[in-house]
Amino acid sequence: MSRRKQIYEGKAKILYEGPEPGTLVQYFKDDATAFNAQKKAILDGKGVLNNRISEYVMIRLGEIGIPTHFIKRLNMREQLIKKVEIIPLEVICRNVAAGTMAKRLGMEEGTKLPRAVVEFCLKRDDLGDPLVAEEHIHAFGWATHAEVDEMIAMTLRINDYLQGMFAGIGIKLIDFKIEFGRLDITMDNGATAHQVILADEISPDSCRLWDRETDRKLDKDRFRRDLGDVTEAYTEVATRLGILKEATNKGTPNLSVVSNDD
Ligand code: C5P
Repeated sequence: MSRRKQIYEGKAKILYEGPEPGTLVQYFKDDATAFNAQKKAILDGKGVLNNRISEYVMIRLGEIGIPTHFIKRLNMREQLIKKVEIIPLEVICRNVAAGTMAKRLGMEEGTKLPRAVVEFCLKRDDLGDPLVAEEHIHAFGWATHAEVDEMIAMTLRINDYLQGMFAGIGIKLIDFKIEFGRLDITMDNGATAHQVILADEISPDSCRLWDRETDRKLDKDRFRRDLGDVTEAYTEVATRLGILKEATNKGTPNLSVVSNDD
């Protein structure tokens, strides 16, 4: 597939050395995993859909001034990104109780939260990505106070924007997970500094998306909970975003894309 040097392989993506220093190629696999990879499957076309959806979301967020690692999509499964040092935290933002929060706090799934809630989990597969407090982040030096403040501010801004974007296509944004990285930048005086930028991906793998009218799940919970029609649901999200041409046959994702640059 590629003679490029592989830098890292994750559960759903592979990172390759990019064509220029400071860049990487992010390849989206069809692999689906859940419950810390205890459950696995290959979902045909998922990587193509997530590449497109994440591209779309990153571009929209860039347009409102959120710095992101996204440079350009290269092909159906790959995008060129800026190389960053990943901050070892998963930042979760919730509007409605679901998943681990509903379970942990004994809340009924679907309960609207009084306001958006931001949580941090440590990126440690071997520990199941445990929830951590800001106190732990500071005490153990995973991120500075300024970085935590920036991540929270950016996450809430991203949440506001994405809630509106998805509402416009009849979808409720229940929650999502994002990751941030540190980018080395050279300032006007020649000194170098770190800028915190949005990294990784934003897709139905990393968000809970429910149809506004029916509460039908259009995200990875279809895989986690054996609800079936996983790629069909991702295709529905992409189609509503205007990324894919209408599926020609119901249940058959049409992965040809609406684009003038393919
Ligand atoms: O499982 P939980 O309820 O904590 O997930 C909250 C949100 O974060 C969900 O949208 C889920 O898809 C996402 N998530 C993720 N990767 C993880 C954990 C959660 O994308 N490792």
